[in-house]
Parts: sequence; C-alpha cells; structure tokens
Amino acid sequence: MDFPSVPAHRRLVPRQGLLLAASLLTLWSLPTTAQLTIESVPPNAAEGKDVLLRVHNLPGNLKGYAWYKGEKGESNHKIVSYLIDTQKPTYWPAYSDRETIYHNGSLLFQNVTLNDTGKYMLQAVHKDFKITEVTGQLCIYPMLPKPNITSNNSNPEEHKDPVMLTCESQTENTTYLWLINSQSLQDSARLQLSKDNRTLTLLLVTRNDMGPYECEIQNPGSASRSDPFTLNVLSVLPKPSITSNNFNPEEHKDPVMLMCEPQTENTTYLWFINSQRLLVSARLQLSKDNRTLTILLVTRNDTGPYEYETQNFVSVVRSDPFILNVLYDPDAPTISPSNSHYLHGTNLSLSCQAASNPPAQYSWLINGRPLTTTQELFIPNITLHNSGSYICLTHNSDTGLTGAMVKNITVYSKCFLDHQHQAVGCRAVWFSGQSL
Ligand SMILES: *[C@@H]1O[C@H](CO)[C@@H](O)[C@H](O)[C@H]1NC(C)=O
Ligand SMILES: *[C@@H]1O[C@H](CO)[C@@H](O)[C@H](O)[C@H]1NC(C)=O
Ligand SMILES: *[C@@H]1O[C@H](CO)[C@@H](O)[C@H](O)[C@H]1NC(C)=O
Ligand SMILES: *[C@@H]1O[C@H](CO)[C@@H](O)[C@H](O)[C@H]1NC(C)=O
Ligand SMILES: *[C@@H]1O[C@H](CO)[C@@H](O)[C@H](O)[C@H]1NC(C)=O
Ligand SMILES: *[C@@H]1O[C@H](CO)[C@@H](O)[C@H](O)[C@H]1NC(C)=O
Ligand SMILES: *[C@@H]1O[C@H](CO)[C@@H](O)[C@H](O)[C@H]1NC(C)=O
Ligand SMILES: *[C@@H]1O[C@H](CO)[C@@H](O)[C@H](O)[C@H]1NC(C)=O
Ligand SMILES: *[C@@H]1O[C@H](CO)[C@@H](O)[C@H](O)[C@H]1NC(C)=O
Ligand SMILES: *[C@@H]1O[C@H](CO)[C@@H](O)[C@H](O)[C@H]1NC(C)=O
Ligand SMILES: *[C@@H]1O[C@H](CO)[C@@H](O)[C@H](O)[C@H]1NC(C)=O
Ligand SMILES: *[C@@H]1O[C@H](CO)[C@@H](O)[C@H](O)[C@H]1NC(C)=O
Repeated sequence: MDFPSVPAHRRLVPRQGLLLAASLLTLWSLPTTAQLTIESVPPNAAEGKDVLLRVHNLPGNLKGYAWYKGEKGESNHKIVSYLIDTQKPTYWPAYSDRETIYHNGSLLFQNVTLNDTGKYMLQAVHKDFKITEVTGQLCIYPMLPKPNITSNNSNPEEHKDPVMLTCESQTENTTYLWLINSQSLQDSARLQLSKDNRTLTLLLVTRNDMGPYECEIQNPGSASRSDPFTLNVLSVLPKPSITSNNFNPEEHKDPVMLMCEPQTENTTYLWFINSQRLLVSARLQLSKDNRTLTILLVTRNDTGPYEYETQNFVSVVRSDPFILNVLYDPDAPTISPSNSHYLHGTNLSLSCQAASNPPAQYSWLINGRPLTTTQELFIPNITLHNSGSYICLTHNSDTGLTGAMVKNITVYSKCFLDHQHQAVGCRAVWFSGQSL
C-alpha cells in the first residue's frame, strides 16, 4: 500500500537541510506556524549505536509519511512509508531491517553503520495529497579503537635524553589529546606537540616527567583513551661500589664481609652473584639494610663476580662486578694420560694437574731424581731405561703446601707376533725405583 504518486509541480517544497540550533530558535520565535524540521538524536554518533531522526512540528491533517535515503525522493531509495489511519508501515527497497518508523513520523536507526551517513528526506503527505518535504542528516563516525602510548626511549636519562611519545592508532579525521597526571597539557617550552598532536616530545626529561601520560583520540561520534603510561626516567646516582674486609680470604677459614657504598635513602639494595639474584643461606647472610653481605667460611666457589644494584623510584644503578680472590691449597694432583705401558722408541708425554689458587707450581722426579719443573713432561724416543717411578710434586707459593702423585711407567721392547698371533720377544725392564 502506498500513496498515489504526486506530480512534481504540485509539491510544496520547503526543502532544507539540518537546521542549526540558532536558526531553530529564530523559527521558534516566529508567531505563526512552526517549521517542519528533522533533528538527529544524537547529532553525531559512532557506528553500532542507535540514532533517531526526530520529526518536529508535524502539521495536522496528514495521511501518512515516507522516508527516503538521499534528498531526491527516488523510488529505489525509498525506505519505508506509513499510513496514519491504519498505523501500518510498508517497506521499500532501501529498507535494511534496522529502521523503525513511529506513529509521529520519527525514524529510528539501530546499529548504525558508516554507510548510513548521509541525508534523509521525509515526505509528509497531506489528506489533500499536498506533499511537504524536509531533509535531515545522519553523521556516523568510526568507533575508535583504544589507543596506546609508545615511547622511543624506554629508559631516558634525566637532563640528557629527549623522548618522543606517540599515540598509537593512526585514524583519519581524529583529534588527539594528551593528559599528564590526568591534567590537560600545560604550555611549556619543554613540551612539543606534532602538528596533528599525535606525538608529544619532551625535550630533556627530568624526574618530574614520569607521568602518567594518557592520550585520547576523538571524532565527533566517539572518544577512546589509552591506559596510563609511565616514563621511567633514570637519574644518575653515583654508581655504587663494593668493598671487602678481606680481598684474598683463605678457603674454609675466613669469614668475608662485602659492603656496598654509598648509603642512600629510600633505596632498595639487591645483591647478584654470577648475575643471579643472591639467595640468602646459612653461609650467606645479609644485614638488615642489605648493604653488607657476610660469607661464612668462603670456598673457591664463592669467587663471584658480585654485583650490587640500588633501586629507587627514579633509577636502577648497578656496581661494577667484584671478584673475590679465594686462596686454597693444591688439590691432590692427577697425572694424565692414565696409560702406564709404553713402547720403546715412542715419545713419553705426561701432564700433571692440581687445582690451586694461586696456581700450583709443578716439578717431576724420576726414581727420586729431579727431572724438570714444568707442568708437562716430555721425553722423546724412549728406551727401556726410561722405565721407572715418575712423581709429580705440586707446590702452592702462598700456602707453601705440597701434594704428590706417583706413576709407574714400564717401557717394553718391540714385540713380534708368532704365527699364532701371540706376542713374543716382549721384554719388560723395570729399574727398581729408589723410594722418596
Ligand atoms: C516520536 O516517537 C518516538 C518513539 O516513541 C520518540 O522517541 C520521539 O521523541 C517522538 N518524537 C517527538 C518529536 O516527540
Ligand atoms: C551491528 O551490525 C554489525 C555489522 O554491521 C553486526 O556484526 C552486529 O552483530 C550488529 N549488532 C547488533 C546488536 O545487531
Ligand atoms: C555501502 O553502501 C554502498 C552503496 O550505497 C554499497 O555498495 C556497499 O556495499 C555498502 N557497504 C556496506 C558495508 O554495507
Ligand atoms: C626520540 O625522539 C626525539 C625527538 O624526535 C629524538 O630527539 C631522540 O633522539 C629520539 N630518541 C631515540 C632513542 O631515538
Ligand atoms: C598499540 O596499538 C597498536 C595499534 O592499535 C597495536 O598494533 C599494538 O599491538 C598496541 N601495543 C600494545 C602494547 O598494546
Ligand atoms: C575525513 O574527512 C574528510 C573531510 O571531511 C572526508 O572527505 C574523508 O572522507 C574523511 N575520512 C574518513 C576516513 O572518514
Ligand atoms: C592540538 O592540541 C591543542 C591543545 O593541546 C589544541 O589547541 C589544538 O587545536 C590541537 N590541534 C589539533 C590539530 O588537533
Ligand atoms: C624517603 O621517603 C620518605 C617517605 O616516602 C620521604 O618523606 C622522604 O622525603 C624520602 N627521602 C628522600 C631523600 O627522598
Ligand atoms: C633486601 O634484599 C631482598 C632480596 O634479597 C629484597 O627482597 C629486599 O627488598 C631488600 N631489602 C632492602 C631494604 O633493600
Ligand atoms: C664447588 O662447586 C663444585 C661444583 O658445584 C662442587 O663439586 C665442589 O664440591 C664445590 N667446592 C666446594 C669447596 O664447595
Ligand atoms: C731413537 O734412538 C735410537 C737409539 O736408541 C736411534 O737409533 C734412533 O735413530 C732414534 N730415533 C729418533 C727418531 O731419534
Ligand atoms: C710402583 O712400583 C713400585 C716398585 O715396584 C711399587 O712399590 C709401587 O707400589 C708402585 N706404585 C704404583 C702407584 O703402582
């Protein structure tokens, strides 16, 4: 069901766009009939919202209405028509299932899309088939995503580094707004905004520039604000350093105290051993303020390096690594390789090894006779006369202690294989070693 079509020359055409509040007031003030107008409620909306095209000052004596997309009243742009008597809407090609017409002529759009943006025309059909047309407009804007703030320097140094904060989310036709400590930006020579306000540059940060910062993006239909962003401004404190009551403690003997300088207020002190956070134990004790670390009965495994970190709300500073020189006696030496049978004419190469700090000094004896004072022993082209008792002696210059290891070497003459592949003709010569 629809109205008969109306010849164009019979139309009364008070076409007009969306009236602004000011002109509306002017019209209201007219003593005679108020003008038919359409108001978008709200005037600007974000996609997904509901918007009402509200009709004001509908004349009496109407037969019905029709709504069109656009201003031209083309039938393929017709959305819905409505007969007042029967209260019955009829839907047309431009209807999208999201429009609802009310008895008073107003048209509700649900879940608007960006595509709904544009002009809409209402035809009010009088009982005498005169037609009054009026146009309104929907302005739909994208729903803005939540922006976030990025910094081009996550740990700027106070009084040194400039920092650029960027409001991430580059969308067209969006305005950017910055807040520091929930306050809008104050003019300052140290703050620079880009032309579009998307980036905020802090020239030479100070500890007072930590924020938090927020950025808000806005279009006429929606606004979205970032999470607060805090800038970690490093202020240079003197670097802490580690001292000790004993730089060269002896293993299993001396307790060692490591102390950190300087003492600063409102600071957290943390120790690191081998780059790992120190774990307090029966042997590793911290003073109440963490500044002194006591190591009871140090061992060679307590060498370190030790590091010390001070943390306060403006900075994190770490000391240079500190290494403890733990002295210990030589362990029992070992001689390698373990092989003790050698063939005449080959080379004899032995190495002696003993852990020690300071490093062990080595000497070799054969059958009680001093041979050499090197860690390695090398005798080329050995003969049966090189058999004997080889002794490696270790000596630690600091503790004066020695260790020893004995290895019996037997040199064989060449062997011959008989026809049954049995070794024959092998002859061992053992020079009985003189005891030490
Ligand atoms: C028309 O009816 C709708 C739905 O009841 C209402 O929201 C709107 O305000 C009405 N328009 C006027 C101008 O009263
Ligand atoms: C709104 O429209 C979008 C597509 O434009 C759809 O995905 C969504 O489900 C709709 N929401 C509602 C509440 O109908
Ligand atoms: C938007 O409208 C145009 C033409 O009116 C149409 O071709 C297009 O498919 C529409 N887009 C969506 C997402 O509805
Ligand atoms: C960060 O941006 C500022 C301003 O453009 C620049 O001066 C500074 O060098 C940048 N810092 C880094 C680490 O890139
Ligand atoms: C920041 O926003 C951008 C664009 O919206 C996004 O790609 C990025 O993953 C976001 N980063 C974080 C840390 O949320
Ligand atoms: C941005 O605004 C301009 C001018 O108002 C308009 O032509 C353009 O389509 C808009 N862009 C978007 C993505 O809304
Ligand atoms: C940038 O922000 C200032 C206020 O901080 C405002 O006056 C100005 O209009 C904004 N410029 C743009 C392009 O949004
Ligand atoms: C240490 O913290 C207390 C309490 O927060 C504060 O009153 C005092 O000023 C701080 N001292 C320094 C040197 O920052
Ligand atoms: C002492 O160190 C521990 C971790 O080893 C840390 O949890 C604690 O906060 C520190 N105390 C002080 C006063 O720095
Ligand atoms: C040192 O550490 C090694 C390996 O963890 C261990 O075998 C050795 O017994 C430790 N030495 C001392 C003296 O604690
Ligand atoms: C090894 O010593 C023997 C004598 O015992 C000698 O005849 C031979 O030439 C020596 N070989 C080498 C390579 O020096
Ligand atoms: C080395 O040989 C001598 C003499 O035969 C013997 O007394 C001693 O126990 C041997 N030592 C080893 C470690 O085999």
